[in-house]
Parts: sequence; structure tokens; C-alpha cells
Amino acid sequence: MTTTGPHPTTSAGDEHDVLLTVEGVKVHFPIKQGVIFDKTIGYVYAVDGVDLQIRKGETYGLVGESGCGKSTLGRAILNLEHPTEGRVVFDGVDIASLKGEELRRKRQDLQMVFQDPLSSLDPRQSVESLLVEGMKAHGLAKDAKQARPRLRELLHAVGLPSTALNKYPHEFSGGQRQRIGIARALSVDPKLIVADEPVSALDVSVQAQVINLLGDLQDEFGLTYLVIAHDLAVVRHISDRIGVMYLGSIVEEAAAPDLYAEPLHPYTRALLSAVPIPDPEIEDSREQILLTGDLPSPSNPPTGCRFHTRCPWRQKTRCDDERPQLRVVEIGGIPADHKVACHWAEQIHSGQLQPHEVEAVSVDPTSFAADAGDHGTIIAETPGRATQSGDPGRGL
Ligand SMILES: Nc1ncnc2c1ncn2[C@@H]1O[C@H](COP(=O)(O)OP(=O)(O)O)[C@@H](O)[C@H]1O
Ligand code: SF4
Ligand SMILES: [Mg+2]
Repeated sequence: MTTTGPHPTTSAGDEHDVLLTVEGVKVHFPIKQGVIFDKTIGYVYAVDGVDLQIRKGETYGLVGESGCGKSTLGRAILNLEHPTEGRVVFDGVDIASLKGEELRRKRQDLQMVFQDPLSSLDPRQSVESLLVEGMKAHGLAKDAKQARPRLRELLHAVGLPSTALNKYPHEFSGGQRQRIGIARALSVDPKLIVADEPVSALDVSVQAQVINLLGDLQDEFGLTYLVIAHDLAVVRHISDRIGVMYLGSIVEEAAAPDLYAEPLHPYTRALLSAVPIPDPEIEDSREQILLTGDLPSPSNPPTGCRFHTRCPWRQKTRCDDERPQLRVVEIGGIPADHKVACHWAEQIHSGQLQPHEVEAVSVDPTSFAADAGDHGTIIAETPGRATQSGDPGRGL
């Protein structure tokens, strides 16, 4: 895929450069049963302790399997979902503390681009009406006539002719519709755009064009992005930094080139080993790690390291009962901003620990962890050596 190169990262750790801070955010959805008493019988631990920072002007790529909590985290950042715990600080303000007019004004700064442009654009509204809606809501234009010069500029920026204004969403191709979705997000002059799987619904041939467009717009309008994807290949060239998510938390975070050059978490290694390399010689000789089994249910996540049921490096100690924190590793040549949530990252990296084979674990989908503190147990597990099977690209 030909895409634009990564954009320069602002200096690490400078608080003035930080636009968004996510601190210990959890989003647990109660599972209810019973019509009259509406009893809570468990929780979906969709997001279960995420910390991250996004600096002004950077692109943070958030990657992980379907169902690992990416969209829920994106929605919590946009204040569309209330965190069960933790807080989201945007531009120095805790967004949960905002109400009424203040919240409305802040919403202007935070916009979303959705996965499926067809279902996110009202088919009965013309492009002009779709684009002017937000501008009117935020007091940027009184009516379509007043907004027209700005609308033409926006369409030009996203590579559509101004004649598009009088057309309807169904008259466009998928790629063009996503350009309209991007123009709509841009129409209110936001600071942060959360793009949730912005190219997943598009043909592979147009994915790169839309990713390139996002990169160009970032340069033009000084935007900051959180780009969510289930595919490491999609975010590779646009992201300055990448966070890899697994079952509600971030298991590895690094500058994009560092993550691809030296993935440290077994899950990231498995994801990367599933991304094809065009050179047949490298393709034949490189590490292949196939993930066994499905993503466990977020309503009954494994104890300890969430990845232990599928991890080829799982150890008898710590992995099953101690949840690893995202931490700086002690490995020569690995920068301090390359963090990993694995107890054994150093030993895996040095080769002291070798991968073993893993058998699929069956998790009872009807079993819920009873309260937010107890994340349940694995119902059945068969340790030992067996061929790793399964498609690591499934759901990715
Ligand atoms: N409103 C909701 N109520 C209950 N469960 C939800 C809700 N939204 C998402 N989930 C569940 O939370 C988990 C994470 O979902 P999501 O954030 O959409 O993951 P992703 O975007 O990574 O595919 C999934 O198991 C999903 O079914
Ligand atoms: S902590 Fe254990 S189970 Fe988790 S990724 Fe590391 S080695 Fe695997
Ligand atoms: Mg999603």
C-alpha cells in the first residue's frame, strides 16, 4: 500500500504538547437479566484500564482484534460513553466535568469519522445539508448560503468537486462517501478526529487514497488523530505512535517504526507475523506465530495476563494470576517510550524463553464474572504441546 510517510512526532513527555490524556479509563457495561427487577448478572469489561496520551499534531494508531474495546474507548474519549472509572482530559479539561454550553462547545473540537460512511450519512440529506448541519449547530454559519464558500473549500480539500454539494450519498462510491464523512468532521474545525476504522468498509484499492487524504489534511489543518483499525498494515504509515489493544487494555505502545522493527509483546508479534511481506524470501524465512482460539469473552476475561490463554510464551509463574502493567522494559536499544505489558518481555526478547505450542481454550460464553473486581475464571484448559492452529487474521 502506498501511503504518505509518518508525520514528525512532537517532543516526548512535554505536557504542553499533550492534547488528550486518558487516565485509567474503564468502561464496563452491565449485563441485565429479568424484566421486573432488572438484575445485573455480570459486566462486559469492554475497556478495562487504559492510559494513553496523544500529543498535538500526532497520529495515534489504536489496533486490535474485533471486540477488544477500540470503539468503546473512542466513544469514551468523545464523551459519548461515560467511563466507569478513570478520566479523559482534553486540552487541559476533564471532559466529564463539562455540562450544557461548555460541553457543546468542546464537542466541536472532537469529531469522529465512522467506519461505514453509508450508514453514518443520512440518505435523505444532500451533501450541502449534511455539511452545513454541524456548522449551524456550532454557530459557524447561519445558513447554507453563508456557508457555501467554506463548503466548496472543504470539498476541494477532500478531493471532491463542488458539484457534489447538490448530490445525495447514494450517488457516490464508497471512497467518495468517506471523503464526505471526513469533510463533515472537518466542517466544524476540530482539534482531534477519532477515525474509527475509516477504511475497513472500503475496497483495498481506495484504502490507501483515503489514508493519504487523512495525512494530507493533517498537515493542512494541523489536526490530531486517533486512528482505530483492526489491521496493523492500515495504521503503519500514517501513525506516529501505535497502541496495541487486547481485551480492554493496551498491551504494547511504541513509536510506529519501533513497534514494527521490534515488537515485544507476544500478541503484537503474532499480529505482525500475519501481515504479508511482498518479498518472498523474507516472507518464507520470517517468524510465523499463529494465534490459537478466539478472543476470550470480555464478559469473562482470563485472570492474570489476559493473553495467557493464547500466548505461546506463557509461563507457569505470574502469567495466570498477575496482571502485567504497561511498563518500560530493560532492554538495550529499546527507547523508554516503547512500553509493553508482559512479565517476560526481556526474557522473550533475549531468547532465554522460547515459544511453546498452545491448545485452544474453551470459555463458557454464558458464564459471567459476578462483579467488577472478579474477572472470572477459565472454564477449561488443556496445557501441553499441540499444533498451533487458527487464523490470526480472523477478525483482524
Ligand atoms: N453498549 C454496549 N453494551 C454492552 N456491550 C457492549 C456495548 N458496546 C460494546 N459492547 C461490547 O464491548 C466489547 C467491545 O466492543 P467494541 O468497543 O465495539 O470493540 P471493537 O471496536 O474493538 O470491535 C464487545 O464485546 C462488545 O460486544
Ligand atoms: S505475561 Fe505471560 S501470558 Fe502474558 S504475554 Fe507475557 S508471557 Fe504471555
Ligand atoms: Mg469497533
